[in-house]
Amino acid sequence: MFEKNCLVKKNFLITGGGSGLGLAMAERFAELGANVAICGRTEEKLKAAADKLKGYGTKILIQQADVRDYEAVQKMFQRIIDQWQHLDGLVNNAAGNFLCPSEDLSPNAFKSVVDIVLHGTFNCSQVYGRHLIEKKQKGSILNIATTYTQTGSAFVLPSACAKAGVYALTNTLAYEWANYGIRVNAIAPGPFPTEGAWTRLMPDPSVEKQYLKQNPMNRYGEKYELANLAVFLMSDLAPYINGECVTIDGGKHLQSGEFNFITQLMPREDLKKLFAKMRPSK
Ligand code: COA
Repeated sequence: MFEKNCLVKKNFLITGGGSGLGLAMAERFAELGANVAICGRTEEKLKAAADKLKGYGTKILIQQADVRDYEAVQKMFQRIIDQWQHLDGLVNNAAGNFLCPSEDLSPNAFKSVVDIVLHGTFNCSQVYGRHLIEKKQKGSILNIATTYTQTGSAFVLPSACAKAGVYALTNTLAYEWANYGIRVNAIAPGPFPTEGAWTRLMPDPSVEKQYLKQNPMNRYGEKYELANLAVFLMSDLAPYINGECVTIDGGKHLQSGEFNFITQLMPREDLKKLFAKMRPSK
């Protein structure tokens, strides 16, 4: 799909790049020639990720920083700019989430997720945007949203609120900063089983079975599929795409279609017989 080396001489920062989808994007970026900085809270995790990434032969930087901390974010960007002079793109991927009935959430539980997801995205985007504007450089921001930004979702209230904010931030900055040559887009992933997500969001196999049933493709997303979409949006292949949120979930978000549930009731051949019986005879 992509020319090998299509990201050569590009420098990217991926927050939460030490594991899961963040690391998958980092690997794909590096594989296609980009220098990649990853940030996260745990140094060991970042080091292990960097060892993997170095195999692609590009420059890899690890940055221990909590995206909730504005000052730490400022220092992190400064260190990256000092090393690389220019940063072509930022992926706001760091997130926090867990299943919890809304009535049982402590104020701090709500705050923790909103701080990481929404404030973290704001902190990194503003520091990066200010730098680009000051230096009169072009850049690209990619936010990892979710499929429930507009519907909300039971049991993940903090995440739903924060991701709705990220969606609004994407649209707002895309318009406001377009004039500076800064593109801002988002990806809304559906189910991608990573260790981080599944230990927090998938209670047991029976829930997982039911969950999978709701997906018309009857499968989860593969990490490389999301990584390829991120490459496209961050590369020179998409210079006119701005303010777009691309859903990647196999069509799961369409499940509320009035008669879609019927597809799950019985095999298709049986459905055809049933529908044929309903047809008025000539
Ligand atoms: N259910 C209910 N409350 C929870 C919870 C859960 N599963 N997990 C954490 N909390 C609460 C804690 O009890 C605490 O509230 P309290 O002080 O009132 O007791 C609050 O959330 C903060 O938890 P803490 O562990 O101190 O914060 P943290 O900053 O270290 O961690 C989280 C932030 C909670 C978001 C943690 O899950 C995390 O680090 N996640 C990052 C990875 C991730 O979630 N990825 C998303 C994959 S989809």
